[in-house]
Amino acid sequence: MSKKPTIAVTGGAGFIGSHTVVQLVEAGYEVVIIDNLSRSDRTMLDGISRITKTTVPFYEVDCTDPKALDKVFLENSFDAVIHFAAYKAVGESVSMPLDYYENNILSLTTLLRVMNKHAVRSLIFSSSCTVYGEPDMVPVTEQSPIKLANSPYGATKQMCERILEDAKVYGIQAVSLRYFNPIGAHPSGLLGELPIGVPNNLVPFITQSAAGVRGSLTIFGNDYQTPDGTCIRDYIHVVDLADAHVRAFDFIRQQEEASGFHVFNVGTGRGVTVLEVVKEFEEVNKVKLNYSFGPKRPGDIEKVFADPSKAFKSLMWRPKFSMKEALQHAWQWEKNFRKIEQ
Ligand code: UD1
Repeated sequence: MSKKPTIAVTGGAGFIGSHTVVQLVEAGYEVVIIDNLSRSDRTMLDGISRITKTTVPFYEVDCTDPKALDKVFLENSFDAVIHFAAYKAVGESVSMPLDYYENNILSLTTLLRVMNKHAVRSLIFSSSCTVYGEPDMVPVTEQSPIKLANSPYGATKQMCERILEDAKVYGIQAVSLRYFNPIGAHPSGLLGELPIGVPNNLVPFITQSAAGVRGSLTIFGNDYQTPDGTCIRDYIHVVDLADAHVRAFDFIRQQEEASGFHVFNVGTGRGVTVLEVVKEFEEVNKVKLNYSFGPKRPGDIEKVFADPSKAFKSLMWRPKFSMKEALQHAWQWEKNFRKIEQ
């Protein structure tokens, strides 16, 4: 019997990373997690073990450390890498840009050097719809212009994509997945979003506010040019997003050329306002949220949602969960984590 492919997942203890590890194990792959735990927690490793009923090997290693990373590659024989390890808070990136440039870019270049040394040629990269900046037209396709990034965080995603395009000369076959807004949690309630400190993102703020850990939700702006005045986004269930990575690995394995760089939007194609998310959360979970309207958040984009048809066609991927289910799962996770009975 041939050996199962082994995939290294950097940032595998994070929100999207941990859900992807579960999907990979369930799809029959061997997985090794590499994470420095700077923005994640061992709780996620426990959650992965409980869902998969296996212990996934874990290295507490920083991807900007070439020696430590080299050692991981010496001890394992990887067929591919999925690279999640990066900082991702837009606002924070504005106040500490050098940390973002250093961490997000150095981890990719270090990883690529180590991959090259060990002849590992397949990479899936965690990108974002932020590369489109404020789009002129929605939905955005992969051909939509890459605009000046709104934040250092966005700039790092653009630069990393450029680095991957150039890395073709090393024989790297790379797929960049441009995520829209990942939300939700594993349906088991054993894995979910666990931001450190006050959540920047909408859904973890909502669940923590409903759990009484945070105060009232501030909706940033209600005079945007949208039906109810609040921003429009494309919210995708994290398990569907995780599944896109499994499909992306299948896609890489089917490529005949020695190297390549491919980008895919990973969203549902449905634009939803902030108020719609709030109302749907209340309705589906039978929870009353306290919220008020506040000023616009600097750097926010009015309206962005995906045209995901390229991923539908080439990755043979389709989201399976509704936004309702995502909001139910997010609340289920929060309640389990906080031991709230409802
Ligand atoms: C942003 C980035 C995205 C990045 C993600 C990672 C853009 C366009 N998007 O997503 O690329 O990957 O962060 O963190 O730069 N909101 C409130 N109140 C809150 C929190 C959020 O009203 O307390 C609103 C926001 O104004 C926004 C929506 O909810 O309209 C979603 O916000 P958030 O979850 O932070 O995601 P993005 O800003 O879309």
